[in-house]
Amino acid sequence: RALATYDPGFVNTASCKSAITFIDGDKGILEYRGYPIEQLAENSTFLEVAYLLLNGELPTEDQLATWVDRVTNHTYVHENLKTFMQGFRYDAHPMSMLMSSVAALSSFYPEANQIHDPEVVDLQIIRMIAKMPTLGAFAYRHAQGKPYIYPSNDLSYTANFMSMLWKMSEPVYQADERLVRAMEVLFILHADHEQNASANAVRSIGSTQVDPYSAIAGGIGALYGPLHGGANEAVLKMLRRIGDVANVPDFIEGVKAGNERLMGFGHRVYKNYDPRAKIIKKAVDDVFEVTGVNPQLKIAQELEKIALEDDYFVSRKLYPNVDFYSGLLYEALQFPPEMFTVLFAIGRTPGWLAQWKELINDPEQKIARPKQIYTGHRGRDFVPMDKR
Ligand code: CMC
Repeated sequence: RALATYDPGFVNTASCKSAITFIDGDKGILEYRGYPIEQLAENSTFLEVAYLLLNGELPTEDQLATWVDRVTNHTYVHENLKTFMQGFRYDAHPMSMLMSSVAALSSFYPEANQIHDPEVVDLQIIRMIAKMPTLGAFAYRHAQGKPYIYPSNDLSYTANFMSMLWKMSEPVYQADERLVRAMEVLFILHADHEQNASANAVRSIGSTQVDPYSAIAGGIGALYGPLHGGANEAVLKMLRRIGDVANVPDFIEGVKAGNERLMGFGHRVYKNYDPRAKIIKKAVDDVFEVTGVNPQLKIAQELEKIALEDDYFVSRKLYPNVDFYSGLLYEALQFPPEMFTVLFAIGRTPGWLAQWKELINDPEQKIARPKQIYTGHRGRDFVPMDKR
């Protein structure tokens, strides 16, 4: 028998062959299906990017119109799913609500387990992309103790999402196109990131040939963790704790002493500036132009300035990642921190689906079942209770 290779966190193990997303972490390059993220963020819509990720090519005008129309017509969720969500406690974390309701979708669409039928697969993909903003907005309204708002299918994907969040209370957010576009760009930036922890979770679960809702619920679980998608929430909490620009040098010393991590810095793959962080910085400027400057921004800028010059961070190639500024942007849009990862999940859904679709169509794929290096006892005799 071949000896197992010990590779905790799979840092040096390719688990699949993939043609979806290319990353060169040393050069700071991110491409979806070969198109640079900068060009997509500048020129595309989120649904166009979703089509690209899932189908491999940019859609023609007709293909895009049909795709958008299909997604738009699946934004509603079953009333019983709404009732299910209403059953959560008033202070339930929206990510926990989202994860559970996506898992629950598998019981609303039992045919989804027919993963070898391309038409069935296609329909679940449409449903998943269409319903994520609805579920995310319901979770948000729930946390606010406000009635859920149904989708408005005359609006664009992102404007519809925003209208389900704020229609009755914050009309300014629908009116300003700059805010809708900033949100859309964030969705595009988050749409895929090759074999990150949540994509790996989706693939692992999907490798059992379970339905896509169950696989994606697992991906949402992985994304919930503070070292993955939860980092943007952690960044904001860190900025609040620092409180003032004057406290930044002491905070940095604490990080260097190993007391805690500078959240929003460092990346398993990028050992250079995360290209998404650069694009977000521009979106932050656009949003603050509408909403007015946020006091945490100055603290973030000071942290970045010091860290980019400090030997501790430079020698370890720790640069700002996508989460360093996204939390600030979300806060400026008046999202509570608990919602940040929900926004990440909505954006990441096409990527998870593309990874899942590639997996189920890959004849070389097997059920994910890593080996272990066993370090425990062997062959012990059972000890009766009175002898322990
Ligand atoms: N602050 C301070 N030190 C750090 C940080 C940080 N944010 N990140 C890594 N280091 C140090 C770490 O202590 C280690 O130092 P040493 O060699 O002296 O022991 C060295 O850098 C290498 O760290 P690592 O943990 O081996 O690196 P990794 O590739 O396993 O971890 C990471 C990547 C993202 C988990 C980590 O950088 C981290 O915890 N960052 C903060 C959390 C964060 O911002 N996460 C968002 C990731 S990007 C969004 C996403 O994809 O979800």
